[in-house]
Amino acid sequence: MVEVRVENLTKIFDGEVIAVQDVSFKVEERQILTLLGPSGCGKSTILRTIAGFNIPEKGRVLFGDRDVTHLPPQDRYTGMCFQNYAIWPHMSVFKNIEFGLQIREIEEKERKKRVKNALESVRMEEYGERMPNELSGGQQQRVALARALVVNPDVLLLDEPLSNLDAKLRIESRQKIRDLVKEMNLTAIYVTHDQAEALSISDIIAVLDRGHLRQIGTPREVWENPENAFVATFIGEANTINMVATSIDGNSAHLELKDAESGKAHTFKSEYLKGVHLNDKVAVVIRPELMFVSKSKDPTLNQIQAKVRSVMYFGTFERIVAVLPDQTDVVIHRFDQDIPIELNDNIFIHINPKLVYTFGPENL
Ligand SMILES: Nc1ncnc2c1ncn2[C@@H]1O[C@H](COP(=O)(O)OP(=O)(O)OP(=O)(O)O)[C@@H](O)[C@H]1O
Ligand SMILES: [Mg+2]
Repeated sequence: MVEVRVENLTKIFDGEVIAVQDVSFKVEERQILTLLGPSGCGKSTILRTIAGFNIPEKGRVLFGDRDVTHLPPQDRYTGMCFQNYAIWPHMSVFKNIEFGLQIREIEEKERKKRVKNALESVRMEEYGERMPNELSGGQQQRVALARALVVNPDVLLLDEPLSNLDAKLRIESRQKIRDLVKEMNLTAIYVTHDQAEALSISDIIAVLDRGHLRQIGTPREVWENPENAFVATFIGEANTINMVATSIDGNSAHLELKDAESGKAHTFKSEYLKGVHLNDKVAVVIRPELMFVSKSKDPTLNQIQAKVRSVMYFGTFERIVAVLPDQTDVVIHRFDQDIPIELNDNIFIHINPKLVYTFGPENL
């Protein structure tokens, strides 16, 4: 059990590719922190630096009070599951898991016991003698996890460990990994580009964009209180609409959208502002499930008019695409299907102003 701190980490490859820039975060004992972001944003680079396979150009990695930045991987007490979980094809499941203990020169009796325990913890006790090509993708993934766990690591590092599994097994495995981390008192750092996976498995999420940390917080914080348009649109499906802030009063603003044909202004209210100043061109982010549809105008509601372009039925909700007066398309997920909505209908979309996430130019 150990706290992990990453301080001002910068990693540059070949003297020019800045893969990670000035990233800092802390993972407390028994917590799971997820590094989340699109392909190439630096997730694996950070994880490999924590494991000791990269030496950073700047910054430090600390396990508790121990500065491990320049320690070789085997002296760090980490267990790592690499991206694509390559397990060695020429070794049995048992040998794959035992290997890390042999390197650490642990005696045979102890090795056998620990491999058995590791196999049990991933429910693979029957499979020790199988070869990797005799296993399903999900079973191979569990072997890779057992291999990371068998060394009794202080810190567990998992790089997209579920990427090759089908949707159902992914959800089960998320829960399993979370339970194991808590049961075994580990500190874990988990990498994924899948926002649903990040929300469900993590205690803390660090959202990365091109080597920069854009927000860090609990899943609820990053979902409900995004700091910038990048985080708001990366976590969950989201509509982005460009408007202008025409008046601001404390934490409330009037936003304007111009009708593409008549030039007439449509106003809309937002009570969620980040870095918004008067007359700014702002990015307004709205989640599809937070938009409600009616067929009539109601001046007491925060409404905007639109015309329906398509309606698709998904069972629990309808996915409506509607075009706003400025010709922006928005996606609405309508769960309450009390009135029928059809193609070319003129509709009014209303949204709670507190859920109209509005970002000024510095918070994009
Ligand atoms: N060994 C290397 N040499 C040169 N450039 C590298 C090296 N490893 C990574 N990079 C570059 O650093 C950046 C970050 O790569 P990284 O592998 O950390 O991304 P990632 O977030 O893990 O992406 P993915 O989701 O695709 O796995 C990329 O631009 C990548 O091309
Ligand atoms: Mg990666």
